[in-house]
Amino acid sequence: MDTGLTRVTRYFSIISVLLVMVLALVVVREYRPAWKGEQTIAGKPWRQGLYEENCASCHGSEGEGRISGRAPAIGRDGFLVAASDDFIRRTVREGRPGTNMPALGRANGGVLSDALVDAMIRFLRSRQQEQPVPPAAGRVSGSPERGKPVYQQYCVDCHGAKGQGRVGPALNNPGFLGTASDQFIRETITRGRPGTPMSPYGQGKGGVAELSPQEIDDLVSFIRQWEGSTHE
Ligand code: HEC
Ligand code: HEC
Repeated sequence: MDTGLTRVTRYFSIISVLLVMVLALVVVREYRPAWKGEQTIAGKPWRQGLYEENCASCHGSEGEGRISGRAPAIGRDGFLVAASDDFIRRTVREGRPGTNMPALGRANGGVLSDALVDAMIRFLRSRQQEQPVPPAAGRVSGSPERGKPVYQQYCVDCHGAKGQGRVGPALNNPGFLGTASDQFIRETITRGRPGTPMSPYGQGKGGVAELSPQEIDDLVSFIRQWEGSTHE
């Protein structure tokens, strides 16, 4: 007996089967952008291929960084150990306005879904050798007045008197200051970025100078002063 009710039920079941199929397709596309049988991009396992396609032209195919394009060494421990997932995620999604780092997240007009941004972070983390520094919120207790002469002595040549950047990235960039934690800045100064011109400045790190933890916190507070100031 073909009552109206069973017809409606049948339509509903057809529609739900279709919906499930569409959903499955979307999930497969998000998590595995290469189709079955070719789970590679540019001849590489897909996560690496994703990196090659979207990042390598600027950051180098091993994430070693490019001094000429001022793209940091994001595939190396110096960066990865100090950077939280959240810092990397926001930088990739939103880019860093005022620099060549493009906004790559879909919500910001880029090509990468949130799932692909997270896949990219897992790919970068898979190359990390050392344990990450446990992320800590909050401000360091430093003095910008004490930090200023230290900055002028050790940092100004590469980062500029106003933090506008030269060989090294701009430290007065609002995007950078808005996403980087004090701890990330402190760890970067302490550990440096081996393999790049950014030397370590922490004690016992074998860099061009050894600053005390207080001097490094003073530098962080000095750099923080550029937050909210007009950016050139
Ligand atoms: C067109 C060149 C370009 C492309 C493509 C690009 N980047 Fe960048 N990226 C840069 C530059 C230049 C900077 C440094 C910005 C600055 O001077 O502050 C940067 C900065 C970063 C930073 C912050 C590093 C730090 O030291 O604070 C991360 C993380 C990053 N990029 C990740 C990525 C990832 C992941 C991709 C690919 C999905 C990517 N970038 C694609 C040019 C690029
Ligand atoms: C010889 C040049 C040079 C000197 C001197 C130098 N830096 Fe750097 N710095 C760089 C370069 C180049 C990078 C980017 C490294 C990379 O490719 O990952 C960098 C990166 C950084 C970063 C990370 C920026 C980001 O976008 O994530 C901070 C913070 C920083 N330097 C602070 C300092 C401070 C503070 C001093 C002084 C104690 C200093 N630097 C001295 C060249 C230098």
